[in-house]
Amino acid sequence: MKAPAFPLPSGRAEFVPSVLSADFACLKGSLAPVRRLCRSVQVDVMDGHFVPNISFGPGIVSAVARAGGLPVDAHLMVAEPLRFIDAFARAGSGLITVHAEAAGAAACVKKIKALGLRAGLALRPKTPFSRVKPLLRSLDLVLVMTVEPGFGGQAFMADMLPKVSEARAAIARSGRKIWLQVDGGIGADTAPLAAAAGADSLVVGSALFSAPDPAAFLKALRKKV
Ligand code: DX5
Repeated sequence: MKAPAFPLPSGRAEFVPSVLSADFACLKGSLAPVRRLCRSVQVDVMDGHFVPNISFGPGIVSAVARAGGLPVDAHLMVAEPLRFIDAFARAGSGLITVHAEAAGAAACVKKIKALGLRAGLALRPKTPFSRVKPLLRSLDLVLVMTVEPGFGGQAFMADMLPKVSEARAAIARSGRKIWLQVDGGIGADTAPLAAAAGADSLVVGSALFSAPDPAAFLKALRKKV
């Protein structure tokens, strides 16, 4: 499936729905209320090795791309991501993020770019931003996790905010259009903190899909950043 062009940062903080907390029996219905309020959607891929949970494969990326009509950001929480880059590219990912802690992360970034897709690098909470610096000029997105990867619905780790600010300063110095994404525990109280620290892509899962009116929730959230 041909991926639609993945958007570039607009200079304003934007929200990215994470389907990890959507209704898996009705992804189209889950995304319908919010798809016109977002420019991409995230699929959290978990292999049960890199994180203690198993979630989705390439087939769900294709399903989400069709259902939401939005570019897909595939966040690979996978121990050996190089084995799966082709499959997630073929499935229609517009951007693929691998973890700096995973095997062959630099080779993954190179391969993702060679496939003509956008490349992201994610950091677990304990991993310092310095791990990103050697690859920063090749990246289209840096993801600072504000929870331990593996599950939705966890509490936001505010002690990650200095890392967000450090990443923002490095991206500014690079002069390149690189998304600074924060993922984990984003809601009404934490979104302003993440945006103030410099994040311009805020992944939101459980707070969004548990809201009685997700569209109204997202519109209210956008006013807070
Ligand atoms: C964790 C996942 C979650 C998810 C967002 O591995 O990456 O952070 O996308 O989940 P919430 O918004 O429920 O924290």
